[in-house]
Amino acid sequence: MKNLRVIVVAVLVTVLGVNIATARHHGEGGERDFHTRDGLMHLIGAQRGILRDIAKEGSAEDVGEFIRAANALSALLAMIPSTFEKNSMPDISRAKPEIWSNWDDFVTVANTQSIVAAGIATTAMTEGLEVAKVRVDDLDCGSCHTPYRKE
Ligand code: HEC
Repeated sequence: MKNLRVIVVAVLVTVLGVNIATARHHGEGGERDFHTRDGLMHLIGAQRGILRDIAKEGSAEDVGEFIRAANALSALLAMIPSTFEKNSMPDISRAKPEIWSNWDDFVTVANTQSIVAAGIATTAMTEGLEVAKVRVDDLDCGSCHTPYRKE
């Protein structure tokens, strides 16, 4: 009998623990998710900033840093969908509900920009920095911000 009681208590503790963890996650309206994606977006902005700076006034010796930033940007852009847990729109978020109602398109837009960034890195490696510089403008953050981010 004592063993049974131990099992019952153990099950209750587990169920309660899972509930608290879930409530915390959803109860904050996906706020943790928001902070993850906000941090990710700022990293994305920083890497694009490096590419733009080098495109504007970089010289041949910046090619390594340029390639690194473009590859980092590509990886970061590919991570975007993983930070948009279903319907996580706390008050501070600018995420639009269309993200989840058009989920496949949202993922495609993220992947497309990731591929553009990877292409910039490849161009720098194969055709050189001067050719790649011009392609920095091919990055189109607005292709996602316009349909999926609130004003
Ligand atoms: C696939 C969609 C997508 C792409 C691609 C994307 N973003 Fe975002 N970004 C968003 C969404 C949605 C938000 C709002 C998130 C929120 O508030 O919950 C956001 C927010 C941001 C923020 C946070 C501050 C703010 O204005 O809300 C920055 C900075 C940002 N993006 C920069 C960029 C840059 C720079 C690029 C391109 C290199 C980019 N993003 C590409 C979807 C995207």
